Amino acid sequence: MDLIMGNWKMHTNHLDAIQMIQKLFYRLDRKDYERVEVVVAPPFTSLRSAQTVIETDRMPFGLGAQNVHFEEKGAFTGEISPAMLAKLSVSYVIVGHSERRAMFGETDDVVNKKAKAVLNAGMRPVVCIGEVLEQREAGQALDVVVGQLRGSLSGISAEEAEEVVVAYEPVWAIGTGLSASTDDAAEVTDAIRAALLEMWGPEGEKTRILYGGSVNQGNIAGFMAKRTIDGALVGGASLDPDSFAGVVRYWI
Ligand code: 13P
Repeated sequence: MDLIMGNWKMHTNHLDAIQMIQKLFYRLDRKDYERVEVVVAPPFTSLRSAQTVIETDRMPFGLGAQNVHFEEKGAFTGEISPAMLAKLSVSYVIVGHSERRAMFGETDDVVNKKAKAVLNAGMRPVVCIGEVLEQREAGQALDVVVGQLRGSLSGISAEEAEEVVVAYEPVWAIGTGLSASTDDAAEVTDAIRAALLEMWGPEGEKTRILYGGSVNQGNIAGFMAKRTIDGALVGGASLDPDSFAGVVRYWI
């Protein structure tokens, strides 16, 4: 099924989160959930409140986290373990977002450890990859992205292909209002699919590939029409329940 996930980044306290989830719920209905798996990824401090409102009102939303540490427990001040997230009914964890790669020094090796730790805890990693503008302009986008993909998924087996989500987010399109053209995005997601099939054989077809980068209700349908795009990772437009509902309802 298509997957549309809202990455709230460092926005909203836990009270805002409850309201946003309730508003989103009022704007969507059964037909939406039959087509689209809807996931919200608020900051850590809102996860417990989000879990409670989703479970109490039996809302068909998945819960996502934006980051995780790869160790199970220990002296890692300020970090959050996979088991802690799993206990909050988190089912998806974003790993290797470009903001974490650029600002917090996350390498493919770290992202790979996180992806494996998420799988081991019974959750699904949303592995983010994407080139920066200079790399695109130098004609290196495909090589960079496929290199990140292989590094980030190294040692993960074909049996887990279905549990893995890959998010292609060109860095120059994030938060800029300048989304990739649908053809440019699909050129890269085609290459990602080809690399997944090469790595995992036919199982590689089961991994969902998302596009992210200035997705909104006006451009989502064009991305979703592409054969190798199975959903979207949405930043800014996910902070307004009306616009996020519009993205989820791309098919209407
Ligand atoms: P924007 O949708 O705000 O461009 O952010 C995309 C993103 O980084 C989602 O993870």
